[in-house]
Amino acid sequence: MLAARAADLDAALPPPVPPDRWRIPPGTLYLDGNSLGPCSVPAEAAVRAALDGWAAAGVLGWSDGEAPWFDLAERVAARLAPLVGAHSHEVVVGGTTTQQLHQLLGTFYRPTPTRFRLVIEHGAFPTDRHAVDSQVAQHGLDPAQAVAELPLDGRGWLAPDAVAAALGPDVAMAVLPGVVYTTGQRLPVAELTAAARRAGVRVVWDLSHSAGLVPHRLHDEAELAVFCTYKYLNGGPGAPAAAFVHEALLPVTPAYRGWWGSDKSRQFSMEGRWTGAAGAGALQLGTPSVLALAALAGSLELFDGICLEDLLERARQLTDFLAAAADGLLAPWGVRVATPREPAARAGHIALAHPEAAALSLALRARRVIVDYRPPNLLRLAPAPLYIRAADVLQAIEHLADILDRGEHAQYAERAARAAVT
Ligand SMILES: Cc1ncc(COP(=O)(O)O)c(C=O)c1O
Repeated sequence: MLAARAADLDAALPPPVPPDRWRIPPGTLYLDGNSLGPCSVPAEAAVRAALDGWAAAGVLGWSDGEAPWFDLAERVAARLAPLVGAHSHEVVVGGTTTQQLHQLLGTFYRPTPTRFRLVIEHGAFPTDRHAVDSQVAQHGLDPAQAVAELPLDGRGWLAPDAVAAALGPDVAMAVLPGVVYTTGQRLPVAELTAAARRAGVRVVWDLSHSAGLVPHRLHDEAELAVFCTYKYLNGGPGAPAAAFVHEALLPVTPAYRGWWGSDKSRQFSMEGRWTGAAGAGALQLGTPSVLALAALAGSLELFDGICLEDLLERARQLTDFLAAAADGLLAPWGVRVATPREPAARAGHIALAHPEAAALSLALRARRVIVDYRPPNLLRLAPAPLYIRAADVLQAIEHLADILDRGEHAQYAERAARAAVT
């Protein structure tokens, strides 16, 4: 029954990027693209080409040749922009998501005695919470007083109504996830941005778990956002992150300024006065990593001709199928789907709750089924729609059922107890 459904699904909707374009670790079922997307042939080729360019031109690579490095970050930002529904000048690429978040909060968080709170969800991704706490502290405020946590409901989800209701008159800004990194719950970006605007609150969206998958229309739906590019955008480990600043907020003088955020014609100006780029590029700090940008630029070639609406629809079918297979094969062992079932409230990954999730994750990895574990009890499985097939999903769930049946995970319990995440 499940096998027939998988075959039908794969016949009707095969992965849009064929297997020979990928360098997925051999012999694995790679369901961890929500953590790190796999290497691809174009990413590898682009890095090799960048190395060759360095070898051939040395420092002249910044200025010479068909694709000088001097404005490589701008070219990559322009390629990312349509993938998140932004104009080219609204996107900047470079550094880490954490740095981009600090840059946006440092620039736009301006607390007053009556409007000073920064809102973030309970259990937010650690770096987001650290950035929020430290930005509040930069203003001499106590995070315990000034940071307001959005509560989760009994199922561990954020109720959009409760989020909107929490944006009271004392709230200056909020950091919200497009997709919650643990449960995989997707939030309605447009609706919550509109609610925040009515409340006079500026939202920074962390779209790390949706960029390259959800067809965001940031120019219409958001004011500020950050996202990493190593998950669904497959840009490589530590790939440069991105930020979005709506053109209504441009030009911007960022809190943290560096020479790479200069207007390009003034970058080498010796006057010591900073003249910023007109667009979001002003948020750049120092010299970008050319090799890392090359990998990202290569991986973005995979998105040529991809329609994100279709990709998200394929993700919906695969996550639907994953949840059905988990219901059918894993429920007897107490495994519960912890991701909302409504298609609009999920994106690329499904979280499965089980008290021994950490040991199960290790047992799966020992069988070359790559998933991950997030405390306290979640396994995350991402059937990334660019390359995963329903048949892969079914095999992974069958492995998990077999592991539970044999009690194979018991041998990993001790290691699991020592591991914070796997
Ligand atoms: C929601 C979220 N934000 C941020 C990050 C990472 O930030 P950085 O690129 O600074 O390491 C991650 C990484 O997994 C994430 O899931």
